[in-house]
Amino acid sequence: MSYLIAVTGKGGVGKTTVSSLIVKQLVAMGKTPVLAIDADPNSCLDAALGVKAEKTVGKVREEAKQKVNKGLSEGISKQDLLQLKISESLVEATGFDLIAMGRPEGAGCYCYANNVLKSVIGKLSSQYPYVVLDNEAGLENLSRRIVQKVNLLVLVSDQSNSGLETLKRLYSLAHEMEIKYDKLLIVVNRMRKSDLSAKAQEVKEFTHADDVIGLPDDLEIAAFADDGQSLGGLSDDNVVIKKIYDLVKNI
Ligand SMILES: Nc1ncnc2c1ncn2[C@@H]1O[C@H](COP(=O)(O)OP(=O)(O)O)[C@@H](O)[C@H]1O
Ligand SMILES: [Mg+2]
Repeated sequence: MSYLIAVTGKGGVGKTTVSSLIVKQLVAMGKTPVLAIDADPNSCLDAALGVKAEKTVGKVREEAKQKVNKGLSEGISKQDLLQLKISESLVEATGFDLIAMGRPEGAGCYCYANNVLKSVIGKLSSQYPYVVLDNEAGLENLSRRIVQKVNLLVLVSDQSNSGLETLKRLYSLAHEMEIKYDKLLIVVNRMRKSDLSAKAQEVKEFTHADDVIGLPDDLEIAAFADDGQSLGGLSDDNVVIKKIYDLVKNI
């Protein structure tokens, strides 16, 4: 059984940053291999992790579909073909593998392909002790059950009242969609003061979160992002790294 960590929150709050740092810490602690899933078409988890995803799952799904339309060679099922294709889009790195979902390409119905995809991703995930899912803003990937059950749901926000309000909406949505998780963690990112606000505490209570942690607005991280560098090179005494270390240690 793999331990699944899903990270979500609205756009630009630091989901990809937090996801990549969780992957980095899991790898550093030897909890390998980790499967990192980039489920945000507008995201670049690969760059944050210092690798390059050449082909997204959306792309291979389209290729598989075209191949099926042309006719398959005997003895190969659609499921086998997609499985084969998806393994082509897996990027292998030291301690972790990465797969980028991309967006569905081309026109037409994807219901069948989506169902196959779910089962293939499900099967792939089960081969890893830890899976980290970097989601787009919202819960669609979880509701579509690309992954079955979340062990740790991480809701990321900036410190603004409106950002924190969004987390309450996400929480309510998760309940409407019957998304199941064992543990809920609130991350208030890019904080410019040291103490968590009353609003952050209120959100913690509203969501019955197991914990709320604050991550400072960090010059080193901002500089790495400005230069397009992966976060792999951040120093171990970076404050954000230390906090992510504590987070990973406690799961
Ligand atoms: N704690 C932080 N300190 C400084 N910059 C940060 C921090 N967290 C995220 N950033 C920067 O904020 C921007 C958005 O972060 P990102 O992780 O891509 O957000 P999201 O995935 O939610 O869209 C990036 O440029 C990133 O480097
Ligand atoms: Mg992102």
